[in-house]
Amino acid sequence: MDVIRSAVRMKEVAQDWRRRGLPVALVPTMGALHDGHLALVRTAGQHASTVVASLFVNPIQFGPREDLARYPRDLDGDLRKLRSAGATHVFAPEASEMYPEGFQTRVVLERLPEHLCGRSRPGHFAGVATVVLKLFHLCGPTVAVFGMKDYQQVLVVERMVRDLDLDVRIVRHPTVREPDGLAMSSRNAYLTPKERRVAPELYATLRALRDLVVAGERDVSRLVTAGRDRLGKAGFAVEYLEVVDPDTLDPATSLDAPCVAAVAARLGSTRLIDNLQLVPSDAEECTR
Ligand code: PAJ
Repeated sequence: MDVIRSAVRMKEVAQDWRRRGLPVALVPTMGALHDGHLALVRTAGQHASTVVASLFVNPIQFGPREDLARYPRDLDGDLRKLRSAGATHVFAPEASEMYPEGFQTRVVLERLPEHLCGRSRPGHFAGVATVVLKLFHLCGPTVAVFGMKDYQQVLVVERMVRDLDLDVRIVRHPTVREPDGLAMSSRNAYLTPKERRVAPELYATLRALRDLVVAGERDVSRLVTAGRDRLGKAGFAVEYLEVVDPDTLDPATSLDAPCVAAVAARLGSTRLIDNLQLVPSDAEECTR
C-alpha cells in the first residue's frame, strides 16, 4: 500500500492512472477508522482494482465551537486497517498541503445546506464540498464511495457532481451499525459508558417511527412529536428530528410519498446523527 503525503505527488500518480485508463475508486475519510469506513473501502474494491482512501481531518468543515481539536487521530492504526481492507493507496496530506497560505475558495451549494445539519453548522457543507472537489481533482477517481449515515452529505456531493459536470460516479453505501443498532461513527468514542448504553435509542426511535407509518400513521407532525418525546425521555437533547423529501430535503407534507426521517441529537457533549427511509423511493432498497 502506497502512502502519499504530498498533493503534487498525488496528482502525478492520478494523472498516470488517467493516461492508462485505469478505473480508480476513492473513499474520502477523516480517519479514526471503524468498520463502517472499512466496508466502504471493501465496496470500493468491487468497483476498481486501484482503491485510494484519503485520511484528512478537514479543518474548513468544522465550526469555531466544534470538535476539530479533539477529533480522534490514529494514523498508524488507520494505515493497518486500510491495508487489511484492501486499499492500494492512501492519501494523507497535512492541512498546509490542502490549504496553503492565502487559500480562500469555497464550493457553495444554494439550497441543500439550508436543511438539517446545514442549519446548525453554517459553512459545514461548503467545507465538505470544497475538500471533496479537491480530493476528486487530486486523486482522479472514476468512482467514489460515500456512506448513507451522512445522508445530507451524499446529496450535496451528488448535486455538486451533476452541477459541475464531474467525471466521477458516486456510490451510496448503506449505514453500517453496531449489533445494537447504533450507527458506527468516529465520534462514538466520545461517549461515556452510560451514554453508550443510551445511544442505540436514536436508531430505535427511527425504527419506531417507521413502524408507526407502516401501521397507518399519516400525520407528519404527530409522528415527529412522538419521536422527539421518546428521545427527550431517553436523555437526548434533540437538535432536529424531521421527515423530509429524499431528494430536496424539504419538509415532507405527506407520509404517502417517499420520505426520510433524519435526526441529530446530543448525548452530553457528543452530537450523533442518523436517518432512515420511512417510505422508500421506488426501486430503492430500504436500509434495515
Ligand atoms: P468521515 O466521517 O470520516 O466519514 C467518511 C465516510 O465514511 C463518509 O462517506 C461517511 O458517510 C462514511 N461513514 C461513516 N460512518 C459510517 C457508517 N456507520 N456506515 C457507513 N458509512 C459511514 O464524512 C466525512 O468523513 C467527511 O465529511 C469527508 C467526506 C471525508 C470530507 O471531509
